[in-house]
Amino acid sequence: MSVFRTKPVEQSIADAEDGEHRLRRSLSALDLTVFGVGVIVGTGIFVLTGVAARQAAGPAVAISFLIAAVVCGLAALCYAEFASTVPVAGSAYTFSYATIGEFPAWIIGWDLMLELALGGAVVAAGWSGYFTSLLKNFGIYLPDSIAGDHAVVNVPAAAIVLLLTAVLVAGIKMSARFNGVMVAVKLVVVLLVIAAGLFFVKGENYRPFIPPPHEIPAGHGLSAPLIQVVFGVTPVAYGVFGVFTAAALVFFAYIGFDVVATAAEETRDPQRDLPIGIIASLAVCTLLYVAVSLVVVGMQHYSTLSESAPLADAFRAVGKPWIATTISVGAIAGLTTVVMILMLGQSRVLFAMCRDNLLPRSLARVHPRFRTPYRITIVIGCATALLAALIPLSAIAQLVNIGTLFAFIVVAIAVVILRRTRPDLPRAFRTPWVPVVPALSVLASLYLMLNLPVETWLRFLVWMIIGSGVYFLYGYRRSRVSATAPEPALET
Ligand code: ALA
Repeated sequence: MSVFRTKPVEQSIADAEDGEHRLRRSLSALDLTVFGVGVIVGTGIFVLTGVAARQAAGPAVAISFLIAAVVCGLAALCYAEFASTVPVAGSAYTFSYATIGEFPAWIIGWDLMLELALGGAVVAAGWSGYFTSLLKNFGIYLPDSIAGDHAVVNVPAAAIVLLLTAVLVAGIKMSARFNGVMVAVKLVVVLLVIAAGLFFVKGENYRPFIPPPHEIPAGHGLSAPLIQVVFGVTPVAYGVFGVFTAAALVFFAYIGFDVVATAAEETRDPQRDLPIGIIASLAVCTLLYVAVSLVVVGMQHYSTLSESAPLADAFRAVGKPWIATTISVGAIAGLTTVVMILMLGQSRVLFAMCRDNLLPRSLARVHPRFRTPYRITIVIGCATALLAALIPLSAIAQLVNIGTLFAFIVVAIAVVILRRTRPDLPRAFRTPWVPVVPALSVLASLYLMLNLPVETWLRFLVWMIIGSGVYFLYGYRRSRVSATAPEPALET
């Protein structure tokens, strides 16, 4: 039995129609785009803009957002082709299973836990921070032991995760409606920042647009970026290199457009609508990010931007505290949908893995009434809540970036492979200029990965080694694709 056995695209599509494991197809292209915006706009724009402008790019942080958008755009073109060709829950996992083989697919599924479950926990911790600070506006002070960065048990973070788990179990349409309301709030707030902020923009804050580069002390040991260790690159802040460094940081702001592909089985016309949902949500967010970052660095000199709440604090700095409070409310709404949809994506990826027997198949049962994979959703909800409650996540947040970028690379390679191995498949959307676009996508993602610290790489490797162990102990023998594996009975 080869660990590179593949699962034919036709079989993946047939599995998605299997009664007990069938999800409800109810989402439209617009729903998907709103889902996309719901999961993309979050910590990145509400928090990281300040850090990136202040520490690395200056006013040119808007260019960093554009660079990160190009990296994601290349990946999005690859995801769009795959999603329209193999419209099955599981995203990069399913795509790899159809092309590179079972073990790589498992590895990708395992890797996606870093983007989705860990990402959900990281953003939930950020949510808790905003929530706690909003409560303070109303005179309610939560003890440090149960909220904030140094909490022993981060109770608000765990509570929001569990609440959202209940929404996810209650149905995809219900989740989409809840998401729609929250996204509307978040968009109004982002547009408010742009419209109101324009009145406070001062031309001199943009000069110089790219501050002159200056060397910064090299990161030491494990905290240094891999690129610096391997190539002996001298780290600089600002200048053109600083703009690229900031791009690696604000990449986090775009994470999530790929999650749209995990909703493939719940989309009414996936071949047509998935590419629209993926590309449209990325395009909308790029426009918003560039506009917001230009306004914010115009309102306040980059060297004085706040690193924890740059948007809200820019309005405080110009004497408009009520706008600042409105922004905090918007940020809370915004982060809520990010957590929810990351967990939604996680449940669909694990659902696909369970359905293939690489994880216990009974977990993939769909709820008879809600038609959601409720068991796996509850397992993920509890695990994410525990993570968010107990682990100081700021230290491991970069793992989310490395996990996502790794999946981008594999999907880009898989597009080229599937073109060769199955040229006959109908492709409603075709990535342009194959293999040039996938090759550029691989290089761009790799470049951003190299900008991550050595310790992130080490943690990533450890996680992958654990994943390989789980595969050989469990999935390898039980896989449905392996001809010898007995089909386990489905319990009801
Ligand atoms: N893109 C999401 C955020 O910025 C993960 O919060």
